[in-house]
Amino acid sequence: MPGAKDTVRVAALADLHYSRTAAAGMLQPLFAQITEAADVLVLCGDLTDYGLPEEARALAREVTSALKIPAVAVLGNHDYESKQQDEVGKIMMDAGVVPLDGDTTEIHGIGFAGVKGFCGGFGRRALGPWGEDIIKKFVHETIDEALKLESALARLRTTHLIALLHYAPIQETVEGEPPEIFAFLGCSRLEEPLTRYPVSAVFHGHAHHGQPEGRTRTNVPVFNVSMSLMRETFPHRPFRVVDVDMTATIDDADRRSGGDRRAVERAPTTTTTTI
Ligand SMILES: [Fe+2]
Ligand SMILES: [Fe+2]
Repeated sequence: MPGAKDTVRVAALADLHYSRTAAAGMLQPLFAQITEAADVLVLCGDLTDYGLPEEARALAREVTSALKIPAVAVLGNHDYESKQQDEVGKIMMDAGVVPLDGDTTEIHGIGFAGVKGFCGGFGRRALGPWGEDIIKKFVHETIDEALKLESALARLRTTHLIALLHYAPIQETVEGEPPEIFAFLGCSRLEEPLTRYPVSAVFHGHAHHGQPEGRTRTNVPVFNVSMSLMRETFPHRPFRVVDVDMTATIDDADRRSGGDRRAVERAPTTTTTTI
């Protein structure tokens, strides 16, 4: 394809928690740095602190004045707090950030699928749909989010698929948080769709003090890009950048099996990973 890039640099960040008390312009240096470092930005929820349209509008002003690359986003639980999540999503869309809620979009030849996700815990300790209706509804909320993600991934026909969530799909990237709250940080039911499709990378947030990187059981790299964790891990460039090699192809057998994804950390002190 004319003008197609051999490498697409995907930056990712979550949990901006933009609040009413934020100083105007505070994110502009960060968005300018991201514009320099990447070709597309992925935002993994908790864009606002209380889910207020005025918070979203202030964040949108930061985006439109300093971010000069395309961006995609999912909302997080904080964006739902004031029951105005649709308005928050619309404000972000008007600012050029594509909100995904079981939807897909294609940028620079990469397919993006996004859902908020939900919680419920991991592995054998995950909450089961048993007993009271309210417990069953809770579990079904997570199953519905996993199905939304699966349907979105199934619609994409690009070689590279990237999934974004707010909640964590694996336990590894929430470790570091108190074990008592693991069940509220994500759910392994969200991992299922990621093992069925040839996903190149997964980004999430919500676990502000988790681990920056883990793997699904089929070896797909999962990055926790929560802003506080990024600031702690990469103080000089507080966001993750993944280089996607667009010249690599995935053969049909690999596509069917889910494939064996590889991520090579170029240098442990930088934020850049190649897939
Ligand atoms: Fe958060
Ligand atoms: Fe959150």
